[in-house]
Amino acid sequence: MNATARITIHSSQFPEQVRRDLLASLRNRRVNHKFHYDSLKQTQKWLAVHEAHSPARRDENCLTAYDRAFLAAAKKIKASQLHILSLGCGGGQKDRRLLGHLNARGRTLFYTPCDVSPAMVLVARQAALAVLPAKNCSPFVCDLATADDLKRFLVTRNPALVTFFGMIPNFEPQQILPQLAALIRPKDWLLFSANLAPGHHYAAGVKQVLPQYDNALTRDWLGTFLADLGVGRGDGRMRFRIADDASNGLKRIAADFRFARPRRINIENDAFEFRAGEIIQLFFSYRYTPGRVRRTLSRHGLEVSAEWIADSGEEGVFLCRRN
Ligand SMILES: C[S@@+](CC[C@H](N)C(=O)[O-])C[C@H]1O[C@@H](n2cnc3c(N)ncnc32)[C@H](O)[C@@H]1O
Repeated sequence: MNATARITIHSSQFPEQVRRDLLASLRNRRVNHKFHYDSLKQTQKWLAVHEAHSPARRDENCLTAYDRAFLAAAKKIKASQLHILSLGCGGGQKDRRLLGHLNARGRTLFYTPCDVSPAMVLVARQAALAVLPAKNCSPFVCDLATADDLKRFLVTRNPALVTFFGMIPNFEPQQILPQLAALIRPKDWLLFSANLAPGHHYAAGVKQVLPQYDNALTRDWLGTFLADLGVGRGDGRMRFRIADDASNGLKRIAADFRFARPRRINIENDAFEFRAGEIIQLFFSYRYTPGRVRRTLSRHGLEVSAEWIADSGEEGVFLCRRN
């Protein structure tokens, strides 16, 4: 293992900006989900949730859907030099498999794992080093939702394959998709994956996957944000529910914390008072169907050219281009 690694950190994740985002989360009673991946502890807990509950880690057939998508993308993309830009790379396990398929075709690969969390980009970088040399790997830390100049840093001369795996559930699509679309040029490719509501009945499908969220590991992971601010388990209760979002016609699973007693949270000189009965939104995860993915992407100029859906119907991978 190399003794050092270089990471570029965009100002959207400089400490003063992160602090402003944290204050906004507490003020608006809506936690920006990036705060669930902030510390090494949270990263480890999220990786444990992912290992235990993500179909992409536990369901062989779901893994096969990814591998089939990666193989097809590797065949379709003819460029001899390719830049893989992984937005919200997490631990980079999917990227590692993708890089393996692309590499088998003997081309030069460059890889930019990109995430809010320095720990995540380092884990993803380490995984990628099995396939490419360290000099072709440039980890990048930023907030994809708020940085408005990412093109300057992330778009290179080489054709790009942008990956956006497991990201769309946690963002309002109308907020993040313009950011994503801006990074994709006409000759680039996008590999996009989404958690889906299985079956033919949307509402029943969302209900079926609720236990993947409402469980001890996920409660422990999401509770860490509040615990680190001094809010104890006895201060209230976490609750998971299915909500309709009228702004986009989608359903999402939302986790809230309801304070059972008054509680003050201090961040240096800023104080936030929560009354008994007040609610803070901790997390949400939209569930799509393949049709909803296609329609949502096309509103932002992105067209699905092929798709691979796990037999469970719970996850899908989509190969897209600009339309
Ligand atoms: C659900 S995980 C998906 C990880 C990985 N792509 C996968 O499929 O395994 C979401 C990832 O997005 C990152 N993330 C959350 N908010 C972000 C933001 N605003 N900008 C960039 N990355 C963000 C988190 O740190 C986390 O690694």
